[in-house]
Amino acid sequence: MNKFNSTVYYYLFLGRVFQSSLKLKDLEFKKFIPADRIEKKINALANKINKDYHDKTPVFLPVLNGSFMFAADLLKHVSVPCRVSFVKVSSYTGTTSSGQLKTLIGHEESLFGLDIIIIEDIVDTGLTLQKIMDELKGLGAKSVEAVALLRKQPAREKNIGIKYVGFELENEFVVGYGLDYDGLGRNYSDIYKNTQN
Ligand code: IMP
Repeated sequence: MNKFNSTVYYYLFLGRVFQSSLKLKDLEFKKFIPADRIEKKINALANKINKDYHDKTPVFLPVLNGSFMFAADLLKHVSVPCRVSFVKVSSYTGTTSSGQLKTLIGHEESLFGLDIIIIEDIVDTGLTLQKIMDELKGLGAKSVEAVALLRKQPAREKNIGIKYVGFELENEFVVGYGLDYDGLGRNYSDIYKNTQN
């Protein structure tokens, strides 16, 4: 690589690291929760989980796709012995919940008698999480709790039982850190919010 190319790549890299706004398709987003705040929050969440589960062997169920980054970072700080099994369910197209839920897929082993912790990126209406929790309780899990990085106002008002919550939001539509807008934006380490909200 010549000097000119490496300088261009260096500035592209810096631009990516310090990027304060994003355009994804028709929507503009600005930086909302920076990566260092996310990291601190994740540490605190993991500490609480480590305390509460010090004598248990929980099974973490990260809900794909949105929670892949959160789950990876959270689990690095979980120190109790645990299992991890990814599940999938999707209800969104665009920026509003369609309310159309598909069934939970992915977990092959029996969850009977086990302590489950669902890992969610964001809980909005709470329909997705409620559905997953009900389904897991129906499978005979001993306990079912949830950890969500972000919780929006509707879920707060409905009192959906989420034991561990990172950040409280109003009704902002957010992307980054695993969260997407029509498939785009999952790859950023900060969280951005839609400026039209
Ligand atoms: P709920 O069923 O309405 O709680 O929706 C939860 C799911 O919707 C999350 O797991 C996300 O996949 C998606 N979602 C909700 N709000 C947002 C957002 O602001 N940005 C990106 N995805 C979102």
